[in-house]
Amino acid sequence: MRHLMSPLDFSVEELDQMMDLAMDIEKNRDKYAHVCDGKRLATLFYEPSTRTRLSFESAMLSLGGQVIGFHSADSSSAAKGESVSDTIRVIGCFADIAAMRHPKEGAPLVASTVSTIPVINAGDGGHQHPTQTLTDLTTIRALKGPLGNMTIGLCGDLKFGRTVHSLISALVRYPNIRFVLISPPELRVPSYIREDILDANNIPYEEVIRLEDALPKLDILYMTRVQKERFFNEEDYVRMKDFYVLDRKKMALAPEDMYVMHPLPRVNEISVEVDADPRAAYFRQVQYGMYIRMALIMTLLEVKVC
Ligand code: NCD
Repeated sequence: MRHLMSPLDFSVEELDQMMDLAMDIEKNRDKYAHVCDGKRLATLFYEPSTRTRLSFESAMLSLGGQVIGFHSADSSSAAKGESVSDTIRVIGCFADIAAMRHPKEGAPLVASTVSTIPVINAGDGGHQHPTQTLTDLTTIRALKGPLGNMTIGLCGDLKFGRTVHSLISALVRYPNIRFVLISPPELRVPSYIREDILDANNIPYEEVIRLEDALPKLDILYMTRVQKERFFNEEDYVRMKDFYVLDRKKMALAPEDMYVMHPLPRVNEISVEVDADPRAAYFRQVQYGMYIRMALIMTLLEVKVC
């Protein structure tokens, strides 16, 4: 039995197969409409989420399966003091696969060690968000072709943004990837990402503060919101929250074939006037997120299509 804790749990070849499957699902929805008939997905969300939870639920429903679950710690037995290990043992009696989001780093991993069903990490604190990364890789591949030979700009809260941490660790496995890390000094990527992932793999990267300096050289710009819930004080958050605002004027500095991505939710970091720009890809990204989650559920449940 396999789980998904980090995007690195799957090899580059396995990820390619999963992305191929997602693309086939996009083209042939009917072919996959009943492959999970009789199967159940549990969504165990100890932290708020709309997109990720609903994306998982729509993915399972689109495969013919069913969904059960809870969407906040308050509405689960966690409020009574139950451990994630006990919860997942119980859920294993009701469901065939589980997606877990938790504010504590490593909680889904702890659950997976005792689970009788595949567990998917749907975001653990400021650590990892592997299914967002699968979404991001699928989107980049769909927009730009095979992964590799590109300059990716990551902008915003690179310190607390778990989608950024997961995406960097996944992208360094592809050839000739360069990063431009755009953040205020207080929100730089954590040193473990710089040292253990970027430096350890000899990945070229630069750190800049001004978005304008980075824009002309990018193939992809990945914007992120400042992660309010992970700040220790309101004052720091208020100081940082509008540090970057991508607007039409700044988009004029970017190449014609640069795409803008964002894991969403967006706050102020992308002005709504950018939505009409053909390079704005963040809503298409949401759609790819559902297809790749369908492919992931099928892969972990070892469902085959006849
Ligand atoms: C991201 C997350 O939860 O980390 N959102 C998501 O999954 N779509 C990004 C964010 O909350 O900023």
